Amino acid sequence: MHSQSSALPAVDLLLPHPLADLTRGKYAVINDLWYKNAVIYCLSVGTFMDANADGIGDFQGLMRRLDYLQGLGVTAVWLMPFQQSPCKDDGYDISDYYAVDPRYGTLGDFVEFTHACKQRGVRVITDLVVNHTSNEHPWFQEARRDPASRYRDWYIWSKKKPPGANEGMVFPGVQKTTWTYDREARAYYFHRFYDFQPDLNTSNPHVQAEILKIMGFWIQLGVSGFRMDAVPFIIGTKGAAVRKPAEQYDMLRMFREFLQWRLGDSIILGEANVLPKTDMEYFGDDGDRMHMMFNFQVNQHLFYALAAADCRPLTKALHATKPRPSTAQWGLFLRNHDELDLGRLSAQQRQSVFDAFGPDKNMQLYERGIRRRLAPMLAGDRRRMELAYSLMFTLPGTPVVRYGDELGMGDDLRLPERNCARTPMQWSTEPHAGFTKSDKPILPVIDEGPYGFQHVNAAEQRRDPESMLNWTERIIRMRKEVPEIGWGDFTVLDTGTRAVLAMRYDWRNNSVLFVHNLDAAPREVAFSTGLRSENGSLLVNLLADDHSRADARGRHYLLLEGYAYRWYRVGGLDYLLKRSEISVEQAIKRRE
Ligand code: GLC
Ligand code: CA
Repeated sequence: MHSQSSALPAVDLLLPHPLADLTRGKYAVINDLWYKNAVIYCLSVGTFMDANADGIGDFQGLMRRLDYLQGLGVTAVWLMPFQQSPCKDDGYDISDYYAVDPRYGTLGDFVEFTHACKQRGVRVITDLVVNHTSNEHPWFQEARRDPASRYRDWYIWSKKKPPGANEGMVFPGVQKTTWTYDREARAYYFHRFYDFQPDLNTSNPHVQAEILKIMGFWIQLGVSGFRMDAVPFIIGTKGAAVRKPAEQYDMLRMFREFLQWRLGDSIILGEANVLPKTDMEYFGDDGDRMHMMFNFQVNQHLFYALAAADCRPLTKALHATKPRPSTAQWGLFLRNHDELDLGRLSAQQRQSVFDAFGPDKNMQLYERGIRRRLAPMLAGDRRRMELAYSLMFTLPGTPVVRYGDELGMGDDLRLPERNCARTPMQWSTEPHAGFTKSDKPILPVIDEGPYGFQHVNAAEQRRDPESMLNWTERIIRMRKEVPEIGWGDFTVLDTGTRAVLAMRYDWRNNSVLFVHNLDAAPREVAFSTGLRSENGSLLVNLLADDHSRADARGRHYLLLEGYAYRWYRVGGLDYLLKRSEISVEQAIKRRE
């Protein structure tokens, strides 16, 4: 085998003809549907930056960090819940949908924030948590107090404890039941999540109208859409007699329609960990339901691929989740604020992910997942972190980065449940990582071990061109220059080995190609691009100098180091001609 690499002039690698071949993309042009190629950054206000030294991050602090986010290159920020809340589930227990929790600031601060984002061309999406409220919400308080209240039917009640009350908990091991007795109401109420999160009766038209009102409110204050929490539970039928909830998909269309009336380019990004066979129900055959969904299927199989150096199940997951309306998009992520849910893997696959990334019981959660951050899962190995991110940025969909992952932040396994991966952002080597001037941060800052803020912080990484932060910035820059990923069709190429994933995207006569070696060992691979040989004869490396030229039979030979990744723009004879690397006569000859 030979590896053919050679220097090329430092030519323009940008998309050659962004608007070429408009006929194939229907009416949508590259600048529409912003979410098809966004880079989303998710953060919670309370742990990001504290401006007034009370130990709790706030909107003022976040605003001071907007230039950091813009510099990183993200195009949208997703805020976890910041509405008024007793905060027993990190804000996913809301007691007033129309108020900013005072510890984070005021509605005025919020509008300043969305305005500041707008000025920087950064969009804002917020969590929309309407499957349940806090039990301290006035609606619930009134409902339990008075059976005649109009709010009684906003929740789900039962005189007797329904059969199956001790099944279907979302947090098994921590949560004991889904029906809890309320003395004041003299009835059981239904809660899919913790007992302080009573489920709203989402089939009740009054509740539905309220959900629309909530969306309309935040849209008016400058957001571009919502990450809708727990979608399958919102649309599922609820009640003591319900054994197997039935999905009421029409609700999704109602939400979307309303949003679109109010603000044409706003979106819903659904949290729905469902099987691929129902994906199209969530997107809608005509693309009239969710704009985006998180791809949990790919997420879990991606971790298996990283653990076992075997991309076959991942390839399967990619194909299974391929069908989607042309206006829809997947949200792709590695780790999020919850546990890494491995519930959709086979027992054996799950075990190999546990063995590789979370062997101790203390690292696992809810009998199905791993609660660690990404960097410690990968033992802080920079090559593996880059590989994982390179995959996330090049698999079909829109990448969603978790705050702190751009620095390689770690976790604190002494904190309960999912809090271990929700510690404050590490800005500098100042006390409490510069997150707060208070001595009582809302959650402890990681201050010991290899992930302590003394070693992992934004200030130092900013000055180091080779840091994870600057690598992330560069990879985001490049990701934005390959819109084929968001818009195009993908093909998985045969590399002859399960350890190496090669994918090509085609969009409007342009192609890009990505190769990832999931194994620690170096690999030699041979493959053809699948394009006619004159079109695929040259792979121009987007990140480094080693380009690849096909042999006479159109095959490319690559020598990949362990955990190597390559990003290529596919070129051919035209390209070589333009660069005068070959003569017209040679080109004609090769075409024949
Ligand atoms: C979603 C959130 C999770 C929260 C739960 C209840 O799964 O991601 O953090 O605890 O909903 O709202
Ligand atoms: Ca504060």
